[in-house]
Amino acid sequence: MKAVYILNYGGVEQFKIGELPISKPAKNEVLIEVYASSVNPVDFKIRSGMAKFLSGNKFPKILGTDISGVVVETGREVAKFKVGDAVFGAASVVFGRNGGNAEFAAVPEKNLSVKPEDLSFEEAACIPVAGTTAYHNLRNTNIQSGDKVLVNGASGGVGIFALQIAIIFGAEVTAVCSAKNIDFAKSLGADKVVDYTHENFLKNGMKYNFVFDAYGKLAFQDVINSLEENGVMFSTLPTPGILFQSLKTKLFGSKRALMANANYSANNLSEIAELVIQGKIKIHIDKVFPLEKLADAHMQLEQGGGKGKLVVVNKN
Ligand SMILES: NC(=O)c1ccc[n+]([C@@H]2O[C@H](COP(=O)([O-])OP(=O)(O)OC[C@H]3O[C@@H](n4cnc5c(N)ncnc54)[C@H](OP(=O)(O)O)[C@@H]3O)[C@@H](O)[C@H]2O)c1
Repeated sequence: MKAVYILNYGGVEQFKIGELPISKPAKNEVLIEVYASSVNPVDFKIRSGMAKFLSGNKFPKILGTDISGVVVETGREVAKFKVGDAVFGAASVVFGRNGGNAEFAAVPEKNLSVKPEDLSFEEAACIPVAGTTAYHNLRNTNIQSGDKVLVNGASGGVGIFALQIAIIFGAEVTAVCSAKNIDFAKSLGADKVVDYTHENFLKNGMKYNFVFDAYGKLAFQDVINSLEENGVMFSTLPTPGILFQSLKTKLFGSKRALMANANYSANNLSEIAELVIQGKIKIHIDKVFPLEKLADAHMQLEQGGGKGKLVVVNKN
């Protein structure tokens, strides 16, 4: 099969394009003919070797967690899917397993959902990592209509979902992004926008019920004064500081620090897909790259992304 892969960890110059054997699906996996995948920071973190304790040292390695396509083979214990089903979800690019930047990928059944016809393969491929990180965590809080929610990094992959999901819950949303994305954040429904290049929201005296740090660089100690009583800060980056504060605030104090991790349950995937179909979540795709140009997609994301998501396509 055609694949884009790496033989060593490093920069985008490590990418090679060539033919590799098609993976055999394990008993609980399906083999997918990949139509689209989207690029996430985890992809370039794996490529660079930053996450090698998880991704392992087996090469060639095919990256790409987000995936959409059509089932072409099922493992012997797969019960939910059959050959010909259009699906989307997350490949497990850990412990030597391969991802979706290839013609075919073997993906655990538990990380997949059926792709509704009204959702394109490109849109579906944007949902798993970014969409579930926002949806799973905001839905599982006590977020109420009228709550004040601030989304830091609101114009990026996770941010566009967090912003719109908070709005669905009836929250008043403040988006934080750079000047070039102010209009974009407003177009997604933000009530207020803070340009982080001109204003520090941590110092403007405003308080929020939830601070969702999609950018993932804020420390809980810095955010605490911007949280209302019983307020919650979510962070998408599992730093030792956030993990410590998450444990500490579970035991002490009225304000919480929580990790926001992706969760690829079929329910999460299909519920987000339904919100997209209903027009309640708009998935903005900044750019679509052919698989051969994966390196360009990585470079754009590493240099600051764009508006929303970057997609890589094998087929339309
Ligand atoms: N734990 C998990 O399961 C999980 C899941 C998904 C993502 N993540 C992590 O979450 C982070 C964001 O992912 P993503 O896909 O949303 O990335 P992305 O698409 O690159 O978006 C990054 C966002 O951060 C904004 N930003 C840049 N500098 C900023 C600053 N100084 N202050 C505030 N915002 C700033 C960007 O806005 P401008 O373009 O306007 O500068 C953009 O909106 C990554 O570290 C990723 O690894 C973790």
